[in-house]
Amino acid sequence: MSVGDSLLAVVKTPLWLAAIATGAKSFVDNPILGSERLNRWGLHVGRVRLAARLAGMRRRWLARRVPPAQRQAFERDGFVVLQDFLPAPEFERLRAEVLDDAWEAREMRQGSTVTRRVFLDVARLGRAKPALAAFLGRQDMRSLIRYVAATGGEPAFSIQCILANAAGAADDPQCVVHADTFHATAKAWFFLQDVGPDDGPFLYVPGSHALTPQRVAWEREQSLAARQSARRDHAEGSFRISVDDLHQLGLPQPRSIAVRANTLVIADTFGFHGRTPSPKPTQRIEVYGTLRRNPFLLWTGLDPLSLPPLRSRLGSVLTALDRMGIVPMPWRPVGQIRLDAPPKI
Ligand SMILES: [Fe+2]
Repeated sequence: MSVGDSLLAVVKTPLWLAAIATGAKSFVDNPILGSERLNRWGLHVGRVRLAARLAGMRRRWLARRVPPAQRQAFERDGFVVLQDFLPAPEFERLRAEVLDDAWEAREMRQGSTVTRRVFLDVARLGRAKPALAAFLGRQDMRSLIRYVAATGGEPAFSIQCILANAAGAADDPQCVVHADTFHATAKAWFFLQDVGPDDGPFLYVPGSHALTPQRVAWEREQSLAARQSARRDHAEGSFRISVDDLHQLGLPQPRSIAVRANTLVIADTFGFHGRTPSPKPTQRIEVYGTLRRNPFLLWTGLDPLSLPPLRSRLGSVLTALDRMGIVPMPWRPVGQIRLDAPPKI
């Protein structure tokens, strides 16, 4: 280690230490989180266990706003599927608002797959997109996202189009079954088109959201070597899992969740999930929501992003932070574009 590196380590050590109490997950960017010795002593599994305990506590509080049938489905599977979520005329209005217009979009390429995303300011949709605004304001949907995420606060919404080109999409990291992070976190998809078995549907390993003793042991094993992993996403704390390991953990094989248009799927992506590889080029357009906060909070409220100036303007906030270089996004601006247009990057 050079003198410069040593000095940098001295400056950064307090930040690395402080990150233990946050959702920081990368084993390569933070040598404390990635330390084999500390993880042998239980640092990673300690964070996993504590996060799960606190998530359970917060979820019990958030449960009061979620119907029992949805809670039972979630407890059993780790995801909830709600078909025919909107009345048909309302759904058709929403779909037309989204698909018949050009949007200020960004794109990101992962292997042969391009994801196009439009970050939404719910407050600004107003009169121009009333059906979309009404959908994003629905308290039942927001309550279910919060329950699955095991946290309160403001979900971030966008419109997303996934354009998967190559057969098999073997180079697409989203097609490898994985957990997003070490704690409960929610992702939601409201599908504007049918997604058949060959259209690259979402897949999930039912029951894999639960922290079992086998999962703890597996997390511990991964944490010892993750820093050296050649798979970048794995080293950054989104653990990839093999079919054999799923079997070892006593988990079933992943289930492809093919859906009709107008279906809402909300999943805890601490559970193992991915995108089903498709034998043909596919295009999937959906309203997408995500909610992830510090997993060690004792409370569900007090989210700065829920304050009036920021709430409903998350799209602008994210774009501004990217422009200022404070929180750079991997998404490149591609200007005004229809969601079904060919990829620009
Ligand atoms: Fe994921």
